[in-house]
Amino acid sequence: MIDPSLPILPADQPARLDALEAAVRARSDLVPEVGIVLGSGLGGLADDLEDSVAIPFAELPGWPAATAPGHAGRLLLGGLGGRPVAMLQGRFHLYEGNAPGLVIQPVLLFGRLGAKVVVLTNAAGGLDPAFGPGTLMVISDHINLTGLNPLTGPNADAIGERFTDLTDAWSPRLRERLHRAGGVEGVELEEGVYVGLTGPNYETPAEVRMYAAMGGHAIGMSTVMECIAARWAGLEVAGVSLVTNAGAGYTGEPLTHEEVMAAGAEAGPRLARVIRRFVSDL
Ligand code: HPA
Repeated sequence: MIDPSLPILPADQPARLDALEAAVRARSDLVPEVGIVLGSGLGGLADDLEDSVAIPFAELPGWPAATAPGHAGRLLLGGLGGRPVAMLQGRFHLYEGNAPGLVIQPVLLFGRLGAKVVVLTNAAGGLDPAFGPGTLMVISDHINLTGLNPLTGPNADAIGERFTDLTDAWSPRLRERLHRAGGVEGVELEEGVYVGLTGPNYETPAEVRMYAAMGGHAIGMSTVMECIAARWAGLEVAGVSLVTNAGAGYTGEPLTHEEVMAAGAEAGPRLARVIRRFVSDL
């Protein structure tokens, strides 16, 4: 039985990635150019994959089955927009009790399999009052408020340096490409700063006001660990938040997981079009 809360140190990652890579290579020899993490409600992009091989998380060494609602929990390899990609349908969240070192393994695996670019998507609450449900926000930067870091502990120099630079963590080049893809598809894209917390509770209205004052535009419970790890491993990172609800307190109504999933279902296909175009025009 896997205990997903057990710490995984950076120095443990190379051996774990050897085992993961071997398990994937037993099923597929596809070398992805891009690795894509599909957040809540965005799993539909997986239907567009051509000639795909699907591996449930629980069939990969050290990975528990996904538990979050709305997350299928599969690694997929196939063609998207004419290019080889790896996709994670679902992800590992901190709020499930997963160790940060486990949360980052999918993006590290993308790199191991050959990907140079990672696309992170998520469902998020709007901190910018102008970002209502259905807003798509290209992530320009993030604020890690989880209090956690996936890179603490002995480093693995074979993967990346001890002190990872995050100046341009969210690649300016890829942000421009996302906007270009949005333009071609006729899909409006905003841009802003993603604030990442562990969850699983939604924020209080006072917290939402504080995070907005701090410079955040959207808030969620994923993504920041994965971005940090991808930069550590030298991957180029792009991301889009799908705003599913106004931040707590803005409307006076309580937040529900159902409204988050419904907004994801409405806006997910728009985001899927942008990502397909982005990948095919890379
Ligand atoms: N807060 C945090 N995470 C979220 C939200 C929110 O309002 N909506 C969707 N994920």
